[in-house]
Parts: sequence; C-alpha cells; structure tokens
Amino acid sequence: MTKATDTIEIRRPDDWHLHVRDGRAMQDVIVHTAAQFARAIIMPNLKPPVVSAQDAIAYRQRILAALPKEGVASQFQPLMTLYLTDNTPADEVARAKEAGVIGFKLYPAGATTNSDAGVTDIRRCDAVLAQMEKLDVPLLVHGEVTHSEIDVFDREAIFIEKILEPLRQRHPGLRIVFEHITTKQAVEYVRDADTQRFAKIAATVTPQHLLYNRNSIFSGGLRTHYYCLPVLKREEHRQAIVNIVASGNSRFFLGTDSAPHPKGAKESACGCAGCYTAWHAMSLYAEVFEQAGALDKLEGFASIYGPEFYGLPLNQGTLKLRRQTIQIPAEFPFGDEVVVPLRAGETTQWALVE
Ligand code: DOR
Ligand code: ZN
Repeated sequence: MTKATDTIEIRRPDDWHLHVRDGRAMQDVIVHTAAQFARAIIMPNLKPPVVSAQDAIAYRQRILAALPKEGVASQFQPLMTLYLTDNTPADEVARAKEAGVIGFKLYPAGATTNSDAGVTDIRRCDAVLAQMEKLDVPLLVHGEVTHSEIDVFDREAIFIEKILEPLRQRHPGLRIVFEHITTKQAVEYVRDADTQRFAKIAATVTPQHLLYNRNSIFSGGLRTHYYCLPVLKREEHRQAIVNIVASGNSRFFLGTDSAPHPKGAKESACGCAGCYTAWHAMSLYAEVFEQAGALDKLEGFASIYGPEFYGLPLNQGTLKLRRQTIQIPAEFPFGDEVVVPLRAGETTQWALVE
C-alpha cells in the first residue's frame, strides 16, 4: 500500500452548472465559486428568467462587477445560458450565439425552482431546437417529467424514455447535456449513447448525488438542506454515478448545481429545493474520488472533459488542495439573509490552498 497523498494539484477546474441568483445575494456567493473555479455556467432561472441575449449580457455584467478586483478570483468568467420557453423565438439562437451565450436551458414547466415559465411541451420548441442544431448551440436539460401522477423518484428515468430519446431522434445533431444526473438509468443512457447516429451527449454530476443517497434527507428527522431536485435517490443509483466518474469516462463532468436559498426558505413548511456547495465544492469532490480510489481521475472530471465538450480551451492555472480537516461554517451571508451550506457544522477533509 502506498501512503495516501496529502496534496492534490490539478489544472484549474470549471463548474458547468451553477446558480448564483442576483443582486447583493449574488455578490456573497460568487466569491466562493471564483476562489476555486476559472469559469462556471450560470443558470438562467432568475425571477423573471434570463430569456434573451440582451438579458444574458446584462446579467453577465452584474456578475463581473461583483467579482473581487484582484487575485485569481478577479479572472473568473461567467458563461451564460438562456432559459428556453414555449415562446423563445428561433432567431434568438443566433443572437445568443453572437453574444457568447453557451447554451439554452430546458426546464420542463413546474419541474423545479422558478420553472413556471419553462417549457410545457418540448414539441413547441422544435423550430428553436432546429436552429440550435444548425448553429451547434447546446441544450442543457433538467431531465425530469413533471406530471403530478408520476412518483418523484421515477421522474428522471421516465424523462429519458418519454422526452429525451424522442428529442434526440428528432434532432440528431443537437448537442445535449443531461444535467445533475441522479440515476443508474441516466448513467447508462449517457454512457451508451451512440455517437455515430447522434451528436455528442454528456452529463454533469453534483457533489450531493455522489456523496449521499435519499436516506440523508430523513436521517434522524427531516433535513431540508439535503433536499434538491432531482431528489437524491437510492444507494444503488449513487454507486452507479460514483463508478462512472471514477472510471474516468469523459462524458461525465463536474457541475455542482450549487443552488443557494435563504435559510428561512429552506427551513420552512414548504422548503425550497437546492443544496449550497459553492464554498466547499472541490473539497467534496476530492473526498468522493479519494474514497473511490480514483484521485487520478479528478482532474479529467473537473478540468478537462467539460471544456472539451463545450469546445473551449483548457484553463492554464492550477488548483491546490491540502489534506486538512476543516469545519464547514453553519451559515454564510446571503444578501440580507444567510445561506446554510450542505453538511453545515460538520467537517470536510481537503482544504483549498490559496
Ligand atoms: O435543487 C434544485 N435547485 N434544482 C434545480 O433544478 C434548481 C435549483 C434552484 O435554482 O434552486
Ligand atoms: Zn440547477
């Protein structure tokens, strides 16, 4: 047995799925991401959502203005997305591409936080999707069906069959990212997708879906900070996700889905979905890869497969982590309120070396 390593140094990573909200709350959380990641894909589910190239440009400006003025975090690049609606005009795709927007996000209406403006029937978007296919603009998918009669734990698996596969048949050239996958069905679907017949498909993976199964939501009481959407699944699903990322499969890469909500909105009779992981994301991922005996696969997952999929250059700098037990704070400032991170008050084993 070789001695366990005490430092990790990898090419600077990116977060391919992130919520930062807006205004003063955004200023408090963006710094956590910028301390670790060179770039992040910013989700468009604001209220109202980011639906036009113009909205995205303005939101990007607000994010850039919130960054520290010096140091590595000042170099952080937000990569913008647009929120697909039933009414997105097909010519918005060209405007978006021109503005540097990296993709469109599909939220099935009612699937999650601020998704009321989402798509009620994907067939209504055929003209926009055809344009995205033509201009090679990726579609980022929240992969859950929303019908209330479908069990919440089955929504992702049924989405694959009812929505995703038919969508890929209709638009074989469309590049798709299956976001925050939670099931072995999603792992298998993306792993086995035929790239001869279809364009590239990839998936993002969050720290919570690697670290926890659904028991964590109910451990000793109702733990709302472990509630996100898609909801945590059974242990066999968690294991399938760990195994695929530990194998170094390049279709699976890092997307935290860090989704801050004010403490009171989580700890309520109807608590919001979302786990806040931006502060300790890389530490949590390192823990997973180490436990799986696959620390050598962390860099591909965090820093290489994402830019390769999106056709962007790899980052130049590095990120260092040191083995050290650190306490995760109970809460962080979040505008006029506070946000409670995942695993608040407990510890994590890898510290960022500034
Ligand atoms: O848990 C989630 N939170 N899932 C989502 O899809 C959205 C996100 C949010 O914006 O809070
Ligand atoms: Zn998300």
